[in-house]
Amino acid sequence: MGLFITIEGPEGSGKTTVAKRLVDTLNKQGIKTIYSREPGGVIIAEKIRNIILDVENTNLDPRSEALLYAASRRQHLVEKVIPALNDGYVVICDRFVDSSLAYQGYARGIGIDEIYDINLFAINNLWPDMTILLDIDPKIGLERISANRQDEVNRLDLEGIAFHQKVHEGYEIIKEKYKDRFTLVDGNNTKEKVFADVYSLVMEKIHGN
Ligand code: TMP
Repeated sequence: MGLFITIEGPEGSGKTTVAKRLVDTLNKQGIKTIYSREPGGVIIAEKIRNIILDVENTNLDPRSEALLYAASRRQHLVEKVIPALNDGYVVICDRFVDSSLAYQGYARGIGIDEIYDINLFAINNLWPDMTILLDIDPKIGLERISANRQDEVNRLDLEGIAFHQKVHEGYEIIKEKYKDRFTLVDGNNTKEKVFADVYSLVMEKIHGN
């Protein structure tokens, strides 16, 4: 059985860069590892991602959005994550349930507990072995978002700074609420330091298993 590791954090936390570098580094060491991301990662889930992030879908109801994220999550688990874990892979997943708790549960105002419940149904108890949260000062995160804004503009990017601020608050709440599930890494440090911290936590986990 492999190892399921999720990386979480608000936009601007640098999680995608860290996740991809981690996958490269582990593979170079002969540890079979795959990168995946949510929403998406497999064809059906990428199609769902396109619906969610389409700038034309301004009418998308928040609960529909939450269900689409959960549906995409389920499909991705069944088609990609579970088979990879059964083949002994380390799966590094860029976002998972906690993104829905912070974005849909808190920032959209649906309620963290409500979103938790629909996600329990979606994941059917397949929790990650480890969830790393890149914990970042909202001010630094928001500065990084503004600096990178031209990269790719999706429906959520159009939300503006107030929404991203709420996402930060959401992560602050869930990191307290689910203390036992999270491993925190200080995301305010340099990229090198953040990577080194994540890497050493993951190696500990791999060797502990
Ligand atoms: P990404 O930019 O990390 O690829 O994520 C796409 C967007 O989707 C990002 O703005 C975060 C958002 N998101 C949610 O709102 N809920 C979720 O459950 C997930 C996985 C992502």
